[in-house]
Amino acid sequence: MQLIDGKKISDDIKDEIAKVVETMVADGQKRPHLAAILVGHDGGSETYVANKVKACERCGFKSTLIRFEDEVTEEELLKTIADLNADPDVDGFIVQLPLPRHINEQRIIEAIDHRKDVDGFHPINVGRMSIGLPTFVSATPYGILELLSRYNVETRGKRCVVLGRSNIVGKPVAMLMMQKHQPGDATVTVCHSATENLKEICREADIIIAALGVPGFVTADMVKEGATIIDVGTTRVPDATRKSGFRLRGDVDFDNVAPKCSFITPVPGGVGPMTIVSLMRNTLLAARHEIYPAATK
Ligand code: GUN
Repeated sequence: MQLIDGKKISDDIKDEIAKVVETMVADGQKRPHLAAILVGHDGGSETYVANKVKACERCGFKSTLIRFEDEVTEEELLKTIADLNADPDVDGFIVQLPLPRHINEQRIIEAIDHRKDVDGFHPINVGRMSIGLPTFVSATPYGILELLSRYNVETRGKRCVVLGRSNIVGKPVAMLMMQKHQPGDATVTVCHSATENLKEICREADIIIAALGVPGFVTADMVKEGATIIDVGTTRVPDATRKSGFRLRGDVDFDNVAPKCSFITPVPGGVGPMTIVSLMRNTLLAARHEIYPAATK
């Protein structure tokens, strides 16, 4: 069994990005600039956004954090998004999800200029990804593909089972795994809450990508000998031995599943760090206008 070390790979990629940025700056170009909008004080979102800001520093990016209280109106958010869309110094920005219930998340996502949508959530970017065009691929699916690639996990012709059908992970990663490229070219099955015979389907899988948000859902009896397991789950579970009072648990029963696998990602330290580094990569692509040409006004 080989542990897939997302922390190390993400550190390597951040170093690679920082080198590119220093060359850009030495050539007289401006530093890439990522802005993030954070609404409210959800612990998970606070941590994610703080880590994104930290990653920007490490990569040599400028970052701007714009905070709102839970009571912010949709109009106020839309106004801020319009300002960021129009700001030539901002290369890309994200609105951290989830948003409070009184805000229409889809309306917010669609208000973002797709050329600055470094989360890859805008329908234009999702559509381009679906038909294999260059685009901002959303961070978690991109991170997963990068891990499979850097560990030379064979995906061509393999059976890949994706657990979960979210817009952020399940659907896009299924789409990427079936596309004609490496990693990809897999035979993909997407399982969800209405799937029958889920255990049997998983037992056939060469690769399982678990993105349900149900701690310990994937048990050893669901896993074929030699399978590759990618665990996207990061549920906070109470842990009195930790200063924070919680620890992160993945969707996979790691201790019992790991001995059966060829490759497995730990939680934390697997997919999580890759997600943030993928956002950095998209921001660099935006700053260099590598997906969409620079706006001409
Ligand atoms: N919430 C959970 N994951 C993400 C993400 O990748 N981007 C944003 N904006 N919000 C999230």
